[in-house]
Amino acid sequence: MKGIILAAGKGTRLYPVTKPVCKPLVPVYDKPLIYYPLSILMMAGIRDVLIITPPDDTKPFVDVFGDGSQFGINITFREQPVARGIADAFLIGESFVGNDTVALALGDNIFYGPAFRRKLREAKAAVADGAAIFGYYVADPRPFGVVEFDTDGRAISIEEKPKHPKSNYIVPGLYFYDNSVLEIAKQVQPSARGELEITSVNNAYLEAGKLKVITLDDRYSWFDAGNADSLYESAGAVKAAQRSGKLIGCPEEIAFQNQWIDLGGLAALAESMKSSRYGQYLSSLVDDLG
Ligand code: G1P
Repeated sequence: MKGIILAAGKGTRLYPVTKPVCKPLVPVYDKPLIYYPLSILMMAGIRDVLIITPPDDTKPFVDVFGDGSQFGINITFREQPVARGIADAFLIGESFVGNDTVALALGDNIFYGPAFRRKLREAKAAVADGAAIFGYYVADPRPFGVVEFDTDGRAISIEEKPKHPKSNYIVPGLYFYDNSVLEIAKQVQPSARGELEITSVNNAYLEAGKLKVITLDDRYSWFDAGNADSLYESAGAVKAAQRSGKLIGCPEEIAFQNQWIDLGGLAALAESMKSSRYGQYLSSLVDDLG
């Protein structure tokens, strides 16, 4: 399975913060925002990751990640020339995906919660023939994709930013697809707001009876850190959740857990950041494991 992170938003909703730095690279408490979706893809066992970047703005991402080999993964980059919507990721990423299945993570979405790897395994299993998305309960679903369930808990409709939502379950920015997503994305027509909506892709799977919706209950946290309030709120939530002593969204740790890097590799990453708490956390892992 391949992984794509759509990190091409200019982040105008965060101006002036995102004038000098792209949105996916702004800090969420102790690490850049994009570390969170990257960690999720790595937790799903994905080693080939395409990061889609804003036009003429790939360099800062390369400065942060290089080719990904420090995490034992391959990261490549491609620019999205025009912000055409989320489904455009599959037009841009067509040759990268090739004949494989693919997971798409939005560069500003943060997830965490108990046994998240199990949820990811469930989603991966669904793409043997079809797609998997998640459903997450929020108080005001109107700014998001909203999934409606029948009384048996089966998904029956998905609407993008409905004025009158049919449920409180939004579809967060993490999607798993079989290879037919490449063809489905080509059929998508721009919506009223001029975007190739990921909701159109999900509806195509739903209509074909091939969409699994996995609900995340209230033990899970999800944030779309696209504006100042949600960025601030998510930073506070991450800080609070990390009080347990374990970091959320730490690709170095996941790389080690997945046995993609060895203890020496982890120690080198720790050493390169030893004056930050983040680096000291990595050192403590090395000490515990060594
Ligand atoms: C996008 C999707 C929406 C999804 C949301 C999650 O919204 O279109 O379906 O619920 O991401 O963050 P947008 O960021 O384009 O407003």
